[in-house]
Amino acid sequence: MSRRKLSTLTVITTTIFFFCFLLVTTSTTTTKAQETDLESECTNKWIHIRDLPPQFNLDLLSNCSEYPIFDDFCPYISNHGLGQKTHNKSHSWYRTDPFMLELIFHRRMLEYPCLTSDPNSASAIYIPYYAGIDSLRYLYGPEVNSSFEHGLDLFQYLYQTDSPAIWRKNSGHDHFLVMARPAWDFSQPLSNDPPIWGTSFLELPEFYNVTALTLEARAYPWQEQAIPYPASFHPPNMALFESWVSRVRRSRRTTLMLFSGGGGFSANPNVRRSIRLECENSTSRDVYDSGYSQLCEFVDCSDGICEHDPIRFMRPMLEASFCLQPPGDTPTRHSTFDGILAGCIPVFFEELSAKRQYGWHLPEEKFEEFSVFIPKEDVVFQGLSIVDVLMSIPRSEVRRMRENVLERIPRVMYRKHGSSPGLRTKKDAFDIAIEGVLQRINSRLQEATA
Ligand SMILES: *[C@@H]1O[C@H](CO)[C@@H](O)[C@H](O)[C@H]1NC(C)=O
Ligand SMILES: *[C@@H]1O[C@H](CO)[C@@H](O)[C@H](O)[C@H]1NC(C)=O
Ligand SMILES: *[C@@H]1O[C@H](CO)[C@@H](O)[C@H](O)[C@H]1NC(C)=O
Ligand SMILES: *[C@@H]1O[C@H](CO)[C@@H](O)[C@H](O)[C@H]1NC(C)=O
Ligand SMILES: *[C@@H]1O[C@H](CO)[C@@H](O)[C@H](O)[C@H]1NC(C)=O
Repeated sequence: MSRRKLSTLTVITTTIFFFCFLLVTTSTTTTKAQETDLESECTNKWIHIRDLPPQFNLDLLSNCSEYPIFDDFCPYISNHGLGQKTHNKSHSWYRTDPFMLELIFHRRMLEYPCLTSDPNSASAIYIPYYAGIDSLRYLYGPEVNSSFEHGLDLFQYLYQTDSPAIWRKNSGHDHFLVMARPAWDFSQPLSNDPPIWGTSFLELPEFYNVTALTLEARAYPWQEQAIPYPASFHPPNMALFESWVSRVRRSRRTTLMLFSGGGGFSANPNVRRSIRLECENSTSRDVYDSGYSQLCEFVDCSDGICEHDPIRFMRPMLEASFCLQPPGDTPTRHSTFDGILAGCIPVFFEELSAKRQYGWHLPEEKFEEFSVFIPKEDVVFQGLSIVDVLMSIPRSEVRRMRENVLERIPRVMYRKHGSSPGLRTKKDAFDIAIEGVLQRINSRLQEATA
């Protein structure tokens, strides 16, 4: 066994051990006074975590080096899914893989202050299933032809094997889980045989009542709600959070606009291609008087070279006023959240990229306050210049928008597990997701009893 494999194994064993340790110790003793405080603080917020056998979560990590395509994701499961630190001395920056959100979320659930071991007094029930990781064997692996079965064993367990009363009390309407991929990957119609792409988890009537938190929702979502992709910034305390925000605020923005991503090389008209062409062209344009030293920067992230390497794109994002977020293979982009963390004003080209996705974290009514919208058709087919649109925004307006981006940083970041009490007073992406889940389940249950 290679040294790398060995150290990976240690990481996994430690991770799994620590998870189990936490699972056992979550019900710590509290005093009477603390109990009354909790009672009022937790009214309508109690959450029960369903007991799942490890085949639905931890076992899925034990052979993390053997998955198809995703070859070796062992390094990304360390630090409870945050991944490895970007460098040894880093406290807030990790090589986070967004597909690990299921682990990150599970770890954060374990420190949620209003957990209850009694499902009957819970307002919501969390299923700690690593749905996206389990889906890999269907998406890319040997079980591609049975992808309509994804979730059936879980349902069997929840509905029959383990205390059926928990599910039946509300017919699953109070259950929720995280599925750290676009919902598209779980929406294969049952009638497609053999499947074209995706598992059918969200198409199974068995799960119609369950709330799924995904990285991207469908255009007409039923069960799912999109929540932010986890970026690489996971501060453990207020001082580190604030020092980053002040660095972002002070940063000199010498580039008008930036695109970080792959693609754009196909000959067919599409917005990424238009961006690349305009970027190449922009070097010949006059920047004199614009206040910028360059109009466009293209950070080439082809072939996944930027994945797990946030330094490649965070530095240039800190120096740009606007970050272009065109749709990629799917409408949403991971880098939307990297850009917000860097104080770079997002420019969207279709509403499904963010406005009609992240309503809990980035409410729709206020999108114009912190982002720019340029319809992709205008760019691709009408030849509208993105540089011209952005240059026409007055400087004072750009500053105001940037302040609004900065204000949203806490809402889209996942702070580190076990972070300081000070930082816990700021609602982060996890806290907002939980609030949303509780509200949604509450209104579902009221509808059902009305
Ligand atoms: C992981 O190991 C289990 C048991 O050895 C096996 O059934 C499963 O197929 C493996 N999964 C992958 C993705 O290799
Ligand atoms: C980081 O820490 C690890 C383990 O403590 C050590 O093996 C490695 O050499 C360190 N790397 C650097 C660049 O200091
Ligand atoms: C899935 O089914 C298709 C068509 O029926 C077949 O060509 C393919 O080999 C099957 N794949 C696997 C992994 O069994
Ligand atoms: C989902 O809810 C409906 C009505 O609220 C119920 O009839 C149905 O049985 C539930 N589905 C499952 C799988 O429990
Ligand atoms: C590039 O610049 C040339 C000359 O200014 C202009 O004619 C052409 O339309 C530009 N192309 C794009 C894609 O902006």
